[in-house]
Amino acid sequence: MSIIDEPRPDIDPYPLSDYVAWAGRRNREPILETFREIFPKSGTVLELASGSGLHINHFAPHFPALQFQPTDLNPDVFESIKAKRAEQGNANVADPFRLDLTDRSTWPAAEAPLYDAIFVINIFQVAPISIADGIFALAERTLKPGGFVAVYGPFKVDGDYTTESNAAFDQEILAAKVPEWGLKDVRDLDAAARDHGLLLARRIDRPANNFILVFQHR
Ligand SMILES: C[S@@+](CC[C@H](N)C(=O)[O-])C[C@H]1O[C@@H](n2cnc3c(N)ncnc32)[C@H](O)[C@@H]1O
Repeated sequence: MSIIDEPRPDIDPYPLSDYVAWAGRRNREPILETFREIFPKSGTVLELASGSGLHINHFAPHFPALQFQPTDLNPDVFESIKAKRAEQGNANVADPFRLDLTDRSTWPAAEAPLYDAIFVINIFQVAPISIADGIFALAERTLKPGGFVAVYGPFKVDGDYTTESNAAFDQEILAAKVPEWGLKDVRDLDAAARDHGLLLARRIDRPANNFILVFQHR
């Protein structure tokens, strides 16, 4: 059975769920295709909300001169990240550490080495929009000048769904009645980014009505 034909498990945002693994198997190649275009040849890359580590460990072998740093709020995922690193033999993936986007005391210290790029995949549909302030405040503090944040996921644009299928997906997650769930709007991310000196530089279409939003640091 090809990846595309695999039946979709029920929506479940737990990072080690069958649903999140199913989504990751489908989106990792299209995301890698864009990252090949935008990542620097060498340097350091921070992933936020790494979950199982499926993405970072899939990308790392394609960028041997980049050092990757996985992180997540939930330490339950760290064994999975390390197991995938071992399976792949990824010498350029660091040990994960706990980073809560809502708690600055868990962020790298102001004097810590800066990153060339930050990426985050599929958090906004299951997190409050206020998480954007955390992402861009963190980026302001930890990115090198000229660095960027790449955000992957489904989003509304100027209050509208971009496709019927995104509208249907949003209705499905809103039906769960979890207050912070639901598609967020690109313009709200853009506003949060501007508050922290970053600008939406590119909106790249990806399959299944997802985007990669690239926010550039000055
Ligand atoms: C739907 S999962 C996506 C995981 C992974 N990025 C992927 O696409 O497979 C959402 C992730 O966001 C993390 N998360 C939720 N709230 C967070 C916060 N405040 N700070 C950091 N990570 C958070 C969860 O622990 C979980 O790993």
